[in-house]
Amino acid sequence: MELITAIKGRRSIRRFRDEPVPIELIREVIEAGTWAPSAKNGQQWRFTVLTGFAKKRLTDAFRAGLDDFINRFGSEASGSAPGSCRIMEEAPAVIMVWNTAERGWPSEEHSVAAAIQNMLLRAHDLGLGSLWIADIYYAKERLEKHLGKPWKLIAAVALGYPATEGRTPPKLTVDEVTEFLE
Ligand SMILES: Cc1cc2nc3c(=O)[nH]c(=O)nc-3n(C[C@H](O)[C@H](O)[C@H](O)COP(=O)(O)O)c2cc1C
Repeated sequence: MELITAIKGRRSIRRFRDEPVPIELIREVIEAGTWAPSAKNGQQWRFTVLTGFAKKRLTDAFRAGLDDFINRFGSEASGSAPGSCRIMEEAPAVIMVWNTAERGWPSEEHSVAAAIQNMLLRAHDLGLGSLWIADIYYAKERLEKHLGKPWKLIAAVALGYPATEGRTPPKLTVDEVTEFLE
């Protein structure tokens, strides 16, 4: 697939077919992530791939963390998080993406984000649908404890064969977002 076709054709997918994703494809998606640029080539990204029962236990922990949040702050405050939890429950695979860096510099998180974008593009290239999910932050501590790693969670990526094409959202044009100075 042409790079620009992948860039423009990738959509956030929130409905997946009930069909497992071969582990080799998940490995290819992650490999694309590992070719991203990273600050000082630190490659701070780490990945935890969850399917089957392991994924169910993770989304149960997310659901429980969300319930805690809603009890404290109300359901209005939970925004899109219950929907994102439902997507992770339905997706055949979820990749949790970590940042191992300890300094807390923005460039370290940016590096991990670059890896995630590579992964979404490669997933699309392989005929898979994906969703970048930051709503795990509503239950970040519980999820980090559940997974038991000494790193910081950056995002979840839901992965599966798409059951929809995804809606193309309005995108700002180059002229709307750029100034050219001479
Ligand atoms: C950092 C980041 C966090 C996101 N978190 C969520 C999320 O938690 N739940 C969700 O449904 N979509 C999430 N998205 C997907 C965005 O809603 C989506 O990218 C945006 O609406 C544009 O649509 P597109 O990806 O199809 O171009 C996230 C995207 C990014 C880049």
